[in-house]
This record gives sequence, C-alpha cells and structure tokens, in this order.
Amino acid sequence: MAEERVLRCIGLMSGTSLDGVDAAWVETDGESVQRLGPALTLPYPPALRRDLRALLDAAPSLAADDPALAAAERQLTERHAEAVERLRREAARQGLPEPDMIGFHGQTILHRPAERRTWQIGDAALLARLTGLTVAHDFRSADVAAGGQGAPLAPVAHAVLAHPLPKPLAVLNLGGVGNVTFIGARGELIAFDTGPANGPLDDWARRALGSDYDQDGRLALSGEADAAVLGRLMQHPYLAAPPPKSLDRLDFDRALREAGADRLSPQDGAATLVAFAAVCVAAAARHFPEAPLQWLVGGGGRRNPAMMKALSAVLAEPVRPVEAAGWNGDALEAQCFAILAARVARGLPLSFPTTTGVPHPLPGGRLQGALL
Ligand SMILES: Nc1ncnc2c1ncn2[C@@H]1O[C@H](COP(=O)(O)OP(=O)(O)O)[C@@H](O)[C@H]1O
Ligand SMILES: [Mg+2]
Repeated sequence: MAEERVLRCIGLMSGTSLDGVDAAWVETDGESVQRLGPALTLPYPPALRRDLRALLDAAPSLAADDPALAAAERQLTERHAEAVERLRREAARQGLPEPDMIGFHGQTILHRPAERRTWQIGDAALLARLTGLTVAHDFRSADVAAGGQGAPLAPVAHAVLAHPLPKPLAVLNLGGVGNVTFIGARGELIAFDTGPANGPLDDWARRALGSDYDQDGRLALSGEADAAVLGRLMQHPYLAAPPPKSLDRLDFDRALREAGADRLSPQDGAATLVAFAAVCVAAAARHFPEAPLQWLVGGGGRRNPAMMKALSAVLAEPVRPVEAAGWNGDALEAQCFAILAARVARGLPLSFPTTTGVPHPLPGGRLQGALL
C-alpha cells in the first residue's frame, strides 16, 4: 500500500435538497488529482424524497431504532449502490480502471454542532456488501466530537481542485444551504455556510407551484424582492457572526416566518428568498481577509438565473459558474467526497481550524470493508 497512494475513488453526495445522489469518479491521492472521470446524478423516486423529507422534519425527536428510519436508510443506500454501479459501467466504457473505494457521505437529517450532534444516515456496511468496495464514511463525527462545526468538509478538496487557478478565489456551492470556500494567495482556507440557498426557495416553490423547485428562476424573476422582509432577514445574527459556523437546513425557517415572508405573493416571496440567499453571500464576503478575484459557483443554484443575477448585483467581483474554470458544477461536491475518501484512507486531515473550527487539523471518517 505504501506505493499505492493514488486511489480511484467514487465520491457520493446526497445534499439537503433531497433531489438525488451525485456520484463522481476521481483518481487522487487526496492531495492532488490525477484524473477526473465521469459523473452522474441519480434522482430519487418521489416516494423516497417524501420519506427523507419526513425524516428531516422528524429528526430532532427521532429514535435511532425507528422503523421508518431503517426503511429509508436501506432505500437510500440501495440508490447509492445503483449510482456506483452505473458510474462503474460508464468508467469502464471510457477505459478507466476499476474503483478502489467509495466516499459515502450519506444524507444529513440533523445538524446541530452546538449540541455536538450531526446525523448522516446511510448504511456503509450494506454499501460495501452491495458494491464489493471499501467504503469511507462517517466523515463528520470526529470533527463534531472535537468541538468543530462538522461542516463544511469540501474546502480542502476545493483547494486541491483549485490548485492551478489564480488566487485569491471564492468557491461558492449553492445547494439547499450555501457554503463558501475562500482560498487565499498562499493557499489559506476560510470556509463556512453562508446561509439558506435553494432550501427555502424549494419549499416556497412546492407550496406556490406544486413543483420541486422554481425552474430557471421563473417565479422569482417575475417578482420583486420585498425590502421590508429582506431588511428584517438581514438582521439575523448568523450573517454577522464570525466563522467558523454552519447551518441546519431548517435553521432559518422561524426567521423567515417571523420576517413575514409567508405573507408575500408567490412571485415576490420567491424573489425575496433569492435576494436573501445573495445577501447572505455578500455578508460572507465581509469575513474574508481580502477580496477574491472571482466567485466560482457550483451546485444546483448556479442553474437558477435569478440567483446568479442576484449574486452579480450584490458582489463586486465577477460571478461565474464553475464551468468557467473547466469544472463540473453538478459533480463538484461528489468529487470532493472522492478526494476526502482518499484522505480518509491515508489518514490526512479533513478539517482545519479555519474551516470547521476544530482546534487543530483533524483526520476523520471511518473505513468499512477490506481495504487494499
Ligand atoms: N434549472 C434550475 N432552475 C432553478 N433551480 C435549479 C435548477 N436546477 C437545479 N436547481 C436548484 O438546485 C437544487 C439542487 O441543487 P444541489 O446542488 O443538488 O443541492 P444539494 O447539494 O442540496 O442536493 C434544486 O433543489 C433547485 O433548487
Ligand atoms: Mg443534490
């Protein structure tokens, strides 16, 4: 194994949007990337989406042996195994070697770092059995146990991927929650969750349109952000709080209600939520030591023109989808968990004082299955 530092890893990420599992093939030693292979997203069937959403809502009082939890966990894991199999076939078709291992993030159903709790569901033993591969999993527990936020974990992988790019650079991921990685001129990292991103907007679209999200930002683009509601939301202490900091998907629900967002028209409500997501990013930039040269945006939010327009309006620097740097914005987080899997295998740190607030650079994750 001493020679075998370079591993072929399949990274798997299932974000808070519950839209599906992203899978990406990466050849990496965890410190650099040798090859980026194919990637895919396997959407969840509506029933699984519903079950996961119910678990997220029930998580604060959910027992670990709840039968609904076990059933959803099994289906979730089987869906991940299916994504691995499909990606394996595609990689083989492209002439790439067989994977060595999987980076399995699982599905976060609860994230309360202040209580030293973060809960990702997913059955690593089952995934190892179904795929015959070694599985790196449980990426966040060690960090939270050591007093870290347990999130975000992608930053060190963002830095690995951004190696050839000009710095300082901001990498912004717009999933259910937004998270940013600032990479300074000397490679220094600052990372944290910016605020709500697609999460509240998806919930709003579900109520207003009966659809999973505001396709192409059409609803938001047809409305106006409400200055009074936005002004109240901007007072939320999370925005001014210095990093490290991280969010649960539901952390802003009460604030949104209390700010009166519920009373807005479908159009203006959507526009206000988009504007707030952007304002949260602008507030995040105030915690950087210097201005980035550009913002590279990944995650589903970059597909929402209303979101990209709102970001450009509040940020001084160019805002571009990560594709401008030759990256794949749908695969980025999964690629990060492939890189993190290699770091788990090699015992390298996953988190740092300036990313999750752990007291010192900290390895993490666990391995399931026979490695190498
Ligand atoms: N064409 C689109 N128009 C508007 N929003 C989109 C579009 N495509 C994706 N999204 C948004 O991206 C979200 C999924 O983003 P993703 O990065 O997968 O988030 P997560 O990591 O939380 O799963 C969707 O829920 C939706 O809000
Ligand atoms: Mg997703």
